[in-house]
Amino acid sequence: MKKVIERSMIVPNMHLLVVEAPEIASKVKPGQFVIVRSGDEGERIPLSIADYDTEKGTISIVFMEVGASTAALARLNAGDAVATCVGPLGNATTIDTFGDVLLVGGCYGIGSLYPVAKELKAKGNKVSIVLEARSSYLIYWLNKYVPLVEKVYTITRDGSLGQKGHIGRLPDVIHSMPRKPDRIIVNGCTYLMAHTSEVTKDLDIPVVVNLNPIMIDGTGMCGVCRVTVAGQMKFACVDGPEFDGHDIDWKEFLARRKAYVTEEAMFFRKSDAPAHNEGKCAWHE
Ligand SMILES: Cc1cc2nc3c(=O)[nH]c(=O)nc-3n(C[C@H](O)[C@H](O)[C@H](O)COP(=O)(O)OP(=O)(O)OC[C@H]3O[C@@H](n4cnc5c(N)ncnc54)[C@H](O)[C@@H]3O)c2cc1C
Ligand code: FES
Repeated sequence: MKKVIERSMIVPNMHLLVVEAPEIASKVKPGQFVIVRSGDEGERIPLSIADYDTEKGTISIVFMEVGASTAALARLNAGDAVATCVGPLGNATTIDTFGDVLLVGGCYGIGSLYPVAKELKAKGNKVSIVLEARSSYLIYWLNKYVPLVEKVYTITRDGSLGQKGHIGRLPDVIHSMPRKPDRIIVNGCTYLMAHTSEVTKDLDIPVVVNLNPIMIDGTGMCGVCRVTVAGQMKFACVDGPEFDGHDIDWKEFLARRKAYVTEEAMFFRKSDAPAHNEGKCAWHE
């Protein structure tokens, strides 16, 4: 059991969960995740660590309410407990002195990129970020990024902030930058990562994604998270979740993420959980 210190909605459908977990906070590195179970009956779901405080012994998670398990987490309040919170899991995001790094974040990825941005800056990189959402009211943590990065770019579907459109506008953003980035790191829904990889194919820039397949144990035992990368089978939980987005078989990946849509839909019919969208990010599709 891990004590919940805070659970609040930061923008519609997106929640911050702060959990007391000193043993995780003391070891975690940017890009790693935890496996969380809201209650004794809950399923195990992977969630990235969006911040941590070694003095207070807490970790922060930003999660989007998309189905049964995230709906259960969204009902927790300070003083409650999560039944399981295991981690840190997965490999950390590769942090080196790359030069100019462009981060691309959408939905929960705006949160999970935050420790990556801090660590990249500490290593002397010039970090910029593109925040992508359907509308300006869905963009959060601008106040945390503005003092940290060279520039914040925004792309909104309705044009209410920054460029109007979706992530297909990314090449325009890149062409408007003073220098071509040496590396792009994308966190967020599958569609954001797949589209970013697609639209950057001809730009000759490495694109690193934090892959989010369905996971069960998160330790390489069940094989559920397998993914084809450069023609080879990998387990995202232990070989990743960081991979080169240009090497991923996205068609297969998207199909595998929909594996349990029928079971999830059955849950929705008998519960008050939010309407299901077949694994697509509610913000994008
Ligand atoms: C390494 C990793 C880090 C992640 N980090 C975050 C994060 O920081 N914040 C966040 O909001 N989401 C994150 N996700 C996605 C998150 O795990 C799913 O949104 C969550 O499991 C959905 O559960 P649900 O029961 O609420 O929804 P469901 O209705 O069960 O599922 C909604 C969709 O989420 C996917 N999903 C379902 N079960 C799992 C599972 N066990 N593992 C992975 N995906 C699943 C499926 O594609 C499904 O269609 C991460 C996933 C991975 C693999
Ligand atoms: S989640 Fe089971 S092998 Fe990766």
